[in-house]
Amino acid sequence: MKKIIVKNIALEKFRTFNPWIYKNEIKKIPKDLKSGEIVEIYSQDKEFLGIGYANPLSKITLRVLSFFHKEVIDQKFFEETIRKAYEKRKKYIKSSNAFRVVHSEADNLSGLIIDYYNRYLSIQINTAGMENFRKEIVNAILKVIEPKGIYEKSDEKARKKEGLETEEKVIYGEIPDKIVIEENGVRFNVALKSSQKTGFYLDQRKNRKIVSDYVEEGFKVLDLFSNTGGFGIYTGKKGADFIKFVDISENAVFLIKENAELNNINNIQIEKNNVFHFLKYELETQNRYDLIILDPPSFAKTKHEKAGALKGFKYLILNSLKLLEKDGLLAVFSCSHHVDLDDLKKVSLSASKDTKIPVEILEHLFQDIDHPYVLNIPNSLYLKGFLIRKL
Ligand SMILES: C[S@@+](CC[C@H](N)C(=O)[O-])C[C@H]1O[C@@H](n2cnc3c(N)ncnc32)[C@H](O)[C@@H]1O
Repeated sequence: MKKIIVKNIALEKFRTFNPWIYKNEIKKIPKDLKSGEIVEIYSQDKEFLGIGYANPLSKITLRVLSFFHKEVIDQKFFEETIRKAYEKRKKYIKSSNAFRVVHSEADNLSGLIIDYYNRYLSIQINTAGMENFRKEIVNAILKVIEPKGIYEKSDEKARKKEGLETEEKVIYGEIPDKIVIEENGVRFNVALKSSQKTGFYLDQRKNRKIVSDYVEEGFKVLDLFSNTGGFGIYTGKKGADFIKFVDISENAVFLIKENAELNNINNIQIEKNNVFHFLKYELETQNRYDLIILDPPSFAKTKHEKAGALKGFKYLILNSLKLLEKDGLLAVFSCSHHVDLDDLKKVSLSASKDTKIPVEILEHLFQDIDHPYVLNIPNSLYLKGFLIRKL
C-alpha cells in the first residue's frame, strides 16, 4: 500500500480524530497515486497515523477512514460501518420511517450519504475514494438494510471537484414515483426522482416538531423556502387556520397540495416565487402572521460569500418581523457552516434595532440526531437556528 506523509500541522487533526486533511497539510504524496486510492498515513517522524483515501485533485486531499489502526478497507468494513450507523438510527429515531442512515464523515464514511425512505434508499457517492468501492458499498447496503430499491442522487458539484461524472439513476430494484413517509404522525410524499438533494430535508424533523408544538388554534402561518411543505404541513396538523407556502422550485411546490391532502389540511395557499420578491409585496398587503418559518438554502458555500449571506438574512428577518402579529413567532435557520448561531443572533439583533421590535429567543434549534454532530469534526454542525418571539 502506498504511503502518504502529513506535515506536523496536521497532527492535531489525528489526535482529535478529525478526518479531513487539506492539500497544504500534506508533506509528500506518491507520484503515481490514483484518484481515491487507499493509503497508509505517516507523520514526518514515521509514526503510523491511520488509513484513508487520497485524491490529489481535491482540496480535501486526504480523508481518514481509520485512525492509528491498520483497518482493511473491504466489503466487511463497509458492512460493519453501515450496520453500526443503521442500528444507531433504529435505536434513536422512533418517530419516523425516514431517516439518514449514513452521514458521510460523521458516520466514518467520508463521501457517502445514505437516506432511508420507508424501505427505499437514496444514496450519494461523492468522492473518488468511495466511487472505487461502489460495488462493495452497494453489496453491503443490500445485506445490511435489504431495501426494495436504491436511487442514486450523487452531488454533481462535489463529484466534479473529484474528477467524476454524475448520473441520477435507479441502481437496484424499483423506485416508485412517490414514496409516502411518516414522521411524528405527519405524512409526506417523497419523489426521489425529481426532489432536491437526497430527497427530503430529514435534518429538520426535530425542528418541525418543536416549532409546530407552539401552534395554537387559529394561527396564520407563513412557510418561507417551504420546499414540499415540511414545516407548514406540521402546523396544519396542529390546528393552524391558514398556511401560505412560498418556494421557488416548481418540483417542490408541486407536491405541497398533495402533502396537504395526505394530512387533511384544507386552508392553504401556495406560491411559486422568489421569497425576496414575495416579501416586498406581501408587506404592502394587510396579511399578517402568527408564525413565520425562514429556512433558506445555504447562502454561503464559501467564507467569501459570508457578507452577502448575512445581508440576505438581515433582509429576510427584518421583513418577517414586520409581517408578524404582536407576540408572533419566527423560526430562522442557517444550513451554512459559514453562518453560525452568533452570526444569526447578530443580524437578528440588528433587524430588531432597525424595526424597533424587541425579540426574545424561545428555542435554540439544531439538525436532528440522524445527522450527527461529532464534536471532533467542527464542520459536522451545519444546521442551526432559533425560534424567536416578537415582544
Ligand atoms: C432548506 S430547503 C427548505 C426545507 C423545508 N423547510 C423542509 O422542511 O422541507 C430550502 C428551499 O429554498 C428554496 N429556495 C431557494 N432559493 C429560493 C428563493 N430565492 N426563493 C424561494 N425559495 C427558494 C429551495 O427550492 C428549497 O426548497
